Amino acid sequence: MSQYLITPGEPLHGTVAISGSKNASLPILAAGLLSKEPSTFEGIPVLSDTAHMMELIACVGGNVDQLDPSTVSVSLSEDSKRKTPSLELFSRLRASFLVMGPLLARTGRARIPLPGGCQIGARPIDLHLKGFSAMGAKIKQGHGYVEARCDHLMGNRIYLDFPSVGATENLLLAACLAHGETIIENAAAEPEIADLARCLSKMGAKIQGAGSDTITITGKDSLSACRHTVIPDRIEAGTFLAMAAASRGDVTLTNICPNHVKPVIAKLEEMGFDLEAGEDFLHISPCEKFRAVDIKTLPYPGFPTDMQSQFMALMSVADGTGVVVETIFENRFMQVPELLRMGAKIKLDGRTAVIDGTRKLSGTQVKATDLRAGAALVIAALAAQGETRITNIEHMERGYEHFVEKLSSLGAKIEKLETE
Ligand code: UD1
Repeated sequence: MSQYLITPGEPLHGTVAISGSKNASLPILAAGLLSKEPSTFEGIPVLSDTAHMMELIACVGGNVDQLDPSTVSVSLSEDSKRKTPSLELFSRLRASFLVMGPLLARTGRARIPLPGGCQIGARPIDLHLKGFSAMGAKIKQGHGYVEARCDHLMGNRIYLDFPSVGATENLLLAACLAHGETIIENAAAEPEIADLARCLSKMGAKIQGAGSDTITITGKDSLSACRHTVIPDRIEAGTFLAMAAASRGDVTLTNICPNHVKPVIAKLEEMGFDLEAGEDFLHISPCEKFRAVDIKTLPYPGFPTDMQSQFMALMSVADGTGVVVETIFENRFMQVPELLRMGAKIKLDGRTAVIDGTRKLSGTQVKATDLRAGAALVIAALAAQGETRITNIEHMERGYEHFVEKLSSLGAKIEKLETE
């Protein structure tokens, strides 16, 4: 077990380069299974989630070659050998289910462990399965596994009841090798979907409309190899902005797409921060007294649920009262009890939180209950008086590459301690 020890210090200052996107990397690694020729993916962040994804792709028969820490090649040979995918390995990350689409499309059969729920919500996969059924797959579930079979996937019109990111990705992956045309309506429009589609198009797929709510895919008989660099991580970028803001810091982010961070920039500006955006950089200036705002999480281009807990931490030290409404996941307020232990004033009612700003957060021992809740605690710690110890930081290592090194380079006093 390890923990972070964060000691109050100077405001953050300097420049930090944002890593490749975790959430773009996971479906893109799965896309490698669509071809027998090895595709090379660059900018894959070194994280436990990407490592687990590579491990489970290998488990289902994929050839995975780590060419350097952030460059990976993936393919699926025609005579590949599959192991029985272990429930334990697949339950480690929900994105494990993204291998279903490519395997079904390539081989006509896939038996994958159910990804299960997780702490932020039940997270069912009904929309993925409805889509595969509409494409002609026969689905069976039992003993913790989902099995899908088909002679050949057939293109169809699929309307998603909710613009699920994972379902859109899984169906997009599968549709690339289906017979005929697939139209995904009410599709998710997140930048990670558009990036996946760019990568698939380089492999020879025919896709129109990715990044909008209607995606049209014309299936091909086979795809070839490609070389693709994943987009920068917009949630890592947003988290560094929130950390800079909380510490009254002066920070420049490089390797980012400011367009992807628009909802976060808009809220920071509403709080009183001054931001300057270039083509691939973003600068935030310090603001001594910033205001609380109201936030409602929504599918892209709305405010991202993955930035909700970080903004709640920031609003805990803002001037005035703000309201946060979480509409995407039913249980994404797990940071609240921990922030309360640090002196935050937050009232919860179902999916709504009311935050009264205070200047008096105090450091103590708190627990990272999930990836973004952990990031919220770091933000609170940077604004608090006294030392903060954050336990269960393995959650942070799922999604923030070289976190301690990057934050230290901006002048933060953060140490990773190994404990019993
Ligand atoms: C992805 C992101 C995650 C982000 C989320 C929402 C990755 C690896 N993870 O997760 O960081 O927080 O998008 O932006 O990219 N739902 C159903 N049935 C389904 C699928 C989803 O009801 O078949 C529901 C979920 O329970 C949830 C909502 O739809 O309430 C959104 O889920 P979804 O967009 O699928 O999120 P993920 O792809 O799991």
